[in-house]
Amino acid sequence: MDTLHLRSAGTSLVMSFDSGEAEVIHWGADLGSTLPDLAILGEPVPHSAIDATVPAGLLPQASSSWRGRPALRGHRLADGVSGLDFSARLRVVTVNAEGNSAVIVQADSDAGLTVSSSLALHDGGLLELRHTVTNDGSTPYQLDELATVLPVAPDAVELLDLTGRWCRERHPQRRPIQQGTWVRTGRHGRTGHDSSLLFAAGTAGFGNRHGKVWATHLAWSGNHEQFADSIGDGRTMIGGSELLGPAEVILEPGASYTTPALFAAYSDRGLDGISEAFYSWFRSRPHHVLPAGGAGKPRPVVLNTWEAVYFDHNLSTLIELADSAAELGVERFVLDDGWFRGRRDDHAGLGDWYVDESLWPDGLTPLIDAVTSRGMEFGLWVEPEMVNLDSDIVRSHPEWIVGPSVQSYKDGGRLPLEWRNQHVIDLVNPDAWQYIFDRVDALLRENNISYLKWDQNRDQLEHGHAGRSSVHEQTLAAYRLFDELKKAHPGVEIESCSSGGARVDLGILERTDRIWASDCNDALERQTIQRWTGLVVPPELVGGHVGPTTSHTTARTHDLSFRAITALFGHFGMEWDVRGVQGAEREELKRFIALYKEHRGLIHSGRMVRADVADTSLMLHGVVADAESLKGTTAALFALVSTGTSFAEQTGRITIPGLEPDLTYRVEAIFPAPGDADHGHTFTQVRPPAWLSNGAVAGGRFLAEVGLPMPNLNPEHALVLRFTAL
Ligand code: DGJ
Repeated sequence: MDTLHLRSAGTSLVMSFDSGEAEVIHWGADLGSTLPDLAILGEPVPHSAIDATVPAGLLPQASSSWRGRPALRGHRLADGVSGLDFSARLRVVTVNAEGNSAVIVQADSDAGLTVSSSLALHDGGLLELRHTVTNDGSTPYQLDELATVLPVAPDAVELLDLTGRWCRERHPQRRPIQQGTWVRTGRHGRTGHDSSLLFAAGTAGFGNRHGKVWATHLAWSGNHEQFADSIGDGRTMIGGSELLGPAEVILEPGASYTTPALFAAYSDRGLDGISEAFYSWFRSRPHHVLPAGGAGKPRPVVLNTWEAVYFDHNLSTLIELADSAAELGVERFVLDDGWFRGRRDDHAGLGDWYVDESLWPDGLTPLIDAVTSRGMEFGLWVEPEMVNLDSDIVRSHPEWIVGPSVQSYKDGGRLPLEWRNQHVIDLVNPDAWQYIFDRVDALLRENNISYLKWDQNRDQLEHGHAGRSSVHEQTLAAYRLFDELKKAHPGVEIESCSSGGARVDLGILERTDRIWASDCNDALERQTIQRWTGLVVPPELVGGHVGPTTSHTTARTHDLSFRAITALFGHFGMEWDVRGVQGAEREELKRFIALYKEHRGLIHSGRMVRADVADTSLMLHGVVADAESLKGTTAALFALVSTGTSFAEQTGRITIPGLEPDLTYRVEAIFPAPGDADHGHTFTQVRPPAWLSNGAVAGGRFLAEVGLPMPNLNPEHALVLRFTAL
């Protein structure tokens, strides 16, 4: 086979094998079914350069004159002599294609290496790529890096990646593409609060709904690098690799290493097109929480106890809370940190996964029964990868703490610095892994638990097992824990939490059912956190909670409607002592919960739309249902959100993109409604736009091009707009 052409949902991937190397000719817009003779792409040879056309290899390598970051680096460990720190001369051995997937095998018999690359272009246009390198030689081979990269077209001139910290995860940063390498390194031993969920290159000024974008995501929860590598000949590669520690992966003869998957999407309609490709892939997975266009169990309304009671666990308080939650319409009650042996605060107990007999003399059953008898599911918080020094498990197994020394700290080894008073348990040690598995398994067998909130609250910095770097093995061992527990308890859902949103990636999401986007329940911060998390992760997998009126993490105060509308476009819940929510505010909360229940089918299956609004104090985002199923139903739900004050005297017309151009819609502002407690706070004008009281009727094309005049919103307020197709 000389050429491979995969096509799906407006995307083409064209590869050529003519030069003997797997060359990526094009990853971008769909090229149709007929390709010209690719020989026309033969490049001229400039002065002072290699005398040959240089391919953009699937595995860029020095042997074909790639002077950027090579995809494969490593060396042989034989007779005390290191090998050469260049890659290899990989040449195609076989190409096997079937439908929209292919496996390409390249080898270098002199170097004793084979790399097998598997590619799949999924139905929604998302490309999945991973490489496996095998040591065919007779001596050990130390692998330093195996990267998954793809070339972007020359008209990509800007980069967008995400960064953040605790309570401010996933905020965008942009820069021009210039010669050199822009690298985002994660050395947290977990994905990291600052990890770039997406690494995107695009045409000048690409936005939410305009411009061409090429974007990659590395599906890995350990150390990693993501980068854009732009070399002197004008080409740019984007992608990433697992960041391996010294001698962390040594391949014995015959052994292999497989990279994390690189997911890659192309869009000619800005970032929304990238989200569409990711959402379509998530929703096509058979184990997705709502596969097949939203069919399945609706995402239940959650009450999480953390910001309601923190460590103050007391059966009668918790039953009162469960009572109050059930009365509001809550469907899942999650008991957070504080229920296990010795855990009165965050100094002790991690690792002792037994219900604390002093607090719970009859175990968790009385609470679980109270919860389930009120028609709710019961969920439990755990943090299986961590231990406190003050725990029975560390007292009996000090050697199970991960650290730089071979000896345990009891025998003179050095303990890593503490983080929230805790350490990492060495899951690479089979006994420690088995202990943790057995404890969580027993909790699930002995109690009626439908849901685990699985936390992971520290970076893993000095990470060693038996004197060798071990983030790689630890990450795989943690994945194995999830996988085995899921296998043993197939009905149990798991939430991935990591000091809020420090473990959000497609590696963890392959084995969990939702992520906790951030510990910040401040709705203003959440607007940005959720917008950028939602770039890749669909809303049904992103937990969003209505927190207390004054945020515990920022001390900002927000009306209920702003907090609720913010949580609406995710998997909705509350994290608030709702026993104290009374009167008009309680009625408003109930109305809102009913609104979520009515519309979650749409929110969790539709197309996400984020408008490019000129006024930067406003955001407009929404979800649009599939055209087929629209007539007479809620066809779309949007939120107009004010994040600050504006220079503009009045908001004026806002255009609403993404609706079906040829359908006619009734548009209504439905929340907060005139009777709601905080309705009067939301607007600031003498006379609101005429359509606001009785709704408006207009076509999708008109709404996208002309728009509707919107009310002036007070800062940090929002309005829900419902679109019914007529
Ligand atoms: C960090 C999480 O992100 C919080 O939601 C909460 O579960 C605490 N840990 C409990 O310790």
